[in-house]
Amino acid sequence: MAARLALVTGGEGGIGTEICRQLGADGRRIVTTCLDPEAENIEAWAENLRQEGIDANWVQCDVSDYDACEKMAETVREQFGEVDVLVNVAGITRDGFLHKMASDQWRSVIDINLNGAFNVTRQFVGSMRERGFGRIVNISSVNGQSGQFGQTNYSAAKAGMHGFTMAVAKEGAPKGITANTVSPGYIKTSMTDAIPDQVREGIVAQIPAGDMGEPGDIARAVRFLTADEAGYINGANLPVNGALFCSF
Ligand code: CAA
Repeated sequence: MAARLALVTGGEGGIGTEICRQLGADGRRIVTTCLDPEAENIEAWAENLRQEGIDANWVQCDVSDYDACEKMAETVREQFGEVDVLVNVAGITRDGFLHKMASDQWRSVIDINLNGAFNVTRQFVGSMRERGFGRIVNISSVNGQSGQFGQTNYSAAKAGMHGFTMAVAKEGAPKGITANTVSPGYIKTSMTDAIPDQVREGIVAQIPAGDMGEPGDIARAVRFLTADEAGYINGANLPVNGALFCSF
């Protein structure tokens, strides 16, 4: 059997790269989506992973555009085959208090973070059903569970992702498909670098683990949930947040 194919949206980012690296180390073939191949220097990114022995490739796609996702899925099928593992990572922040938020700030976050998960998953779930196997992981956020100052848009999108996950899990379970959410806390990436220093220091002071997490902490959870043997873990949310927010 050919090595399983993993599609990771937004794989070039801090968390995405580590997910690609760890799934690749598990022998998955990797394809990532990228928005702007030149700006993201995506071929060099893929080449770096290849140097580590990972079969890494990319396709251009704006996940917020349904038609583009349809075309992307055709390209992936032609060039690489059927997707067995899908990780929806692509996401943005456009932080601002609600009383100051422009409608575009709201819409862009919902379009990319939440609608993007639908647009991409919709392309691959049918063939996963036909083949009786699929592993889907949606990357949400602690702020989807707890809410956060300045993130009505992001918190709504990330909470919505887990509702989506649970419904996909119910539909997929009879056909060998699992869908789970991983909810990162504050992780050292360019996204958390962009938080104003004073605000970030205040947040870090509230993390019981004493520091932000590493991208590898998230990748480890994704690797666990996408293993062939993980077929009975379905519809779950796995928080990885240094005990910042605990719930059950
Ligand atoms: N906790 C407590 N108070 C907060 C706060 C917080 N997290 N964020 C802002 N405030 C307070 C400020 O201290 C300030 O209080 P005072 O008026 O008493 O000084 C007040 O709210 C206004 O704050 P700003 O002056 O910063 O107002 P602003 O309009 O310029 O910006 C903001 C507001 C956009 C919320 C900005 O503070 C900000 O960017 N905060 C960070 C939001 C955040 O946590 N984003 C997470 C990004 S990382 C991520 O999302 C990844 C993930 O999944 C975890």
